[in-house]
Amino acid sequence: MSSRLEKHPILSFDRGKKISFNFDGSEITGYEGETIAAALHAAGVRVLSHSIERNRPRGFYCAIGNCSSCMMEVNGEANVKVCVTMLEEGMTVRTQEGKGELL
Ligand code: FES
Repeated sequence: MSSRLEKHPILSFDRGKKISFNFDGSEITGYEGETIAAALHAAGVRVLSHSIERNRPRGFYCAIGNCSSCMMEVNGEANVKVCVTMLEEGMTVRTQEGKGELL
């Protein structure tokens, strides 16, 4: 189920090209010009990471790169803040376990 706004009374949406990426083994689509977190949120993904000590779910929080709620593994790189990382065609995005592995 998509939670993407299609119409708004005062805003217009000029979406870029539709692109696809892989999230935890599933293909998801988003639009050029949006962040990974925005595309995941629109696809219904609400849990982006888990707290390190108690493994509690963490989701979209500050959306400006200031907290650590959205750190995921992107193209094999751990601890990427997906709320400030732009979506690219063919990316591989994974839910990160713990502190993530350094390359
Ligand atoms: S949601 Fe806070 S850094 Fe991404």
